[in-house]
Amino acid sequence: MKGLILAGGKGSRLRPITFSMAKQLVPVANKPVIEYGLEAMVAAGIREIGVITGDTGEEVKSGLGDGSRWDARLTFIPQEAPLGLAHAVKTARGFLGESDFLMYLGDNLIKSSLTDLVQEFEEHQPAATILLTPVPNPSDFGVAEMRGDQVVGLEEKPQSPRSNLALVGVYLFTKQIHDTIEQLRPSRRGEFEITDAIQLLINGGHTVRSHIVQGWWKDTGTVEAMLEANRLILEDLDPQQHGALEDSRIEGRVAIGEGSSIKSSTIRGPVVIGQGCLIENAYIGPFTSIDSQTQVVNSEIEYSIVMRECVLSDLTNRIEGSLIGRGVTIKGSVSIPGTLNLVMGDNSSAVIP
Ligand code: TTP
Repeated sequence: MKGLILAGGKGSRLRPITFSMAKQLVPVANKPVIEYGLEAMVAAGIREIGVITGDTGEEVKSGLGDGSRWDARLTFIPQEAPLGLAHAVKTARGFLGESDFLMYLGDNLIKSSLTDLVQEFEEHQPAATILLTPVPNPSDFGVAEMRGDQVVGLEEKPQSPRSNLALVGVYLFTKQIHDTIEQLRPSRRGEFEITDAIQLLINGGHTVRSHIVQGWWKDTGTVEAMLEANRLILEDLDPQQHGALEDSRIEGRVAIGEGSSIKSSTIRGPVVIGQGCLIENAYIGPFTSIDSQTQVVNSEIEYSIVMRECVLSDLTNRIEGSLIGRGVTIKGSVSIPGTLNLVMGDNSSAVIP
């Protein structure tokens, strides 16, 4: 079985972060989102993996390399425009050949392993297997209509959903999907929808199996979801201490990278701090990820992601629920009441008055 991981798309819901970076490379617990999916595929025995890329293709390519880090072989496949998930599969047709394949949306995270899923697929050989999970807001997702445990219909972001079962961003297909994709027309929102292609399989009498996901699943396409994914990954953090501590308190599960220095600070886990950071006279609260070479001085932060090479200093207001891009500077001086909720793109700077 081959793998196909989708790292193109527009990323419009994650602006301004996606003005200058691929959303699939945003770090969750200091590791790019897409690497979780890659690792899960490799753990399930899939080593030949195609990566669909868009405008941010060069960055994705240099971020992932040739795949040897995971003992896999990556083939980068540029998509002419983000015309939909089915269009991405069509773009990868040459790479996929006659193989069965597992498709993984590069901004999705699922906790459960893919191994059983792949084995089950190989045993039963349906035309497709989709993953489903109950959600409170099905109108925001692709939704499955079920009769018993049979999938009888699929709809993309329906106004009146027929169930609360959303499609999770992992699919398994045989080569039959390519024929149905050839028959597709663009949907109301102008995309070639994978849900329409799967619907055509069902209409044609092919077997489409479903699998309810055990454990959590996150589509990290929005800031809120990205922070929530960060929280979920940090829940399982392995504590590690490779930095230098001075007059500081570490509570709960905290991982500190090499060359980082923590002075006169309190860190309340789960928290991950990368390499070469300086945390001084600061409070770092639960569910925060601070990436390498970042400084947090005379400041407080929690439930946030701070990317590499940032400087947060002299902030009398606590930063909460924030997503801060690479190389951002935020400096404060006088106190104003309340907390700061920020989404700041790469290399931006702010002075809090
Ligand atoms: P989405 O998050 O559904 O789409 P998007 O990236 O365009 O984001 P937004 O809605 O915020 O504008 O895409 C899911 C994943 O699939 C994501 O990793 C991007 C990728 N993708 C492609 O590679 N090609 C495509 O044509 C589309 C639509 C998405």
